[in-house]
Amino acid sequence: MLYGKRIRLRGNERSDLPKFVEWLNDPDVRRTLSMSMPISQAIEEQWFENMLKRPSEEQSLGIEIKDGDGWRLIGNCGIFDINWRARSAEVGLFIGDKSCWNKGYGTEVMRLLLRHGFETLNLNRIFLRVDAANLGGIRAYEKAGFVHEGRFRQGTFQGGEYRDMLFMSVLRSEWIPEK
Ligand SMILES: CC(C)(COP(=O)(O)OP(=O)(O)OC[C@H]1O[C@@H](n2cnc3c(N)ncnc32)[C@H](O)[C@@H]1OP(=O)(O)O)[C@@H](O)C(=O)NCCC(=O)NCCS
Repeated sequence: MLYGKRIRLRGNERSDLPKFVEWLNDPDVRRTLSMSMPISQAIEEQWFENMLKRPSEEQSLGIEIKDGDGWRLIGNCGIFDINWRARSAEVGLFIGDKSCWNKGYGTEVMRLLLRHGFETLNLNRIFLRVDAANLGGIRAYEKAGFVHEGRFRQGTFQGGEYRDMLFMSVLRSEWIPEK
């Protein structure tokens, strides 16, 4: 488990999949994700099986928040496409439970992934891609320490229009760990 102040990240279980199917078919959640087709339980199971075959460092992680005496799943995240020579990797997340948006969880997830990536995996560069229309996401990533590094003009097509895709990153040398 990776523990933050209010969240923890844990390995995905097969039992998480129905929630992912529900969330990833929600138009509000999908709007800023590069997804084109509806997600079925079968497709999600296939994704899960393939994910288990990936290296342990690239296994995706469930995002949980405290709920009474236990923990409740609200989304998913992970570090992937690690280039061990350049020590560079990409991160991604979604919070599927919309009642949890704009409460600082996305920022906290990113801070936790940065700490894990730099202090445990010994990465040097962690980057992400974000739809330029995803203002809440961009704000969360800026708060976590990501800096803007590039714009792929009309890099994605979503909701009937071309949209710019932004690249943001944090280098190990500029990362300021949270106390
Ligand atoms: C993007 C996402 C991860 C952000 O998570 P979150 O927990 O809502 O983010 P946070 O609460 O940490 O930060 C959001 C910030 O953006 C701000 N914000 C939200 N909507 C905004 C808007 N339209 N314009 C400007 N700022 C906005 C919030 O006020 C908050 O800033 P503040 O703390 O300074 O007030 C989450 O909304 C999500 O999963 N969305 C659906 C899937 C997705 O887009 N995934 C990311 C793909 S890159």
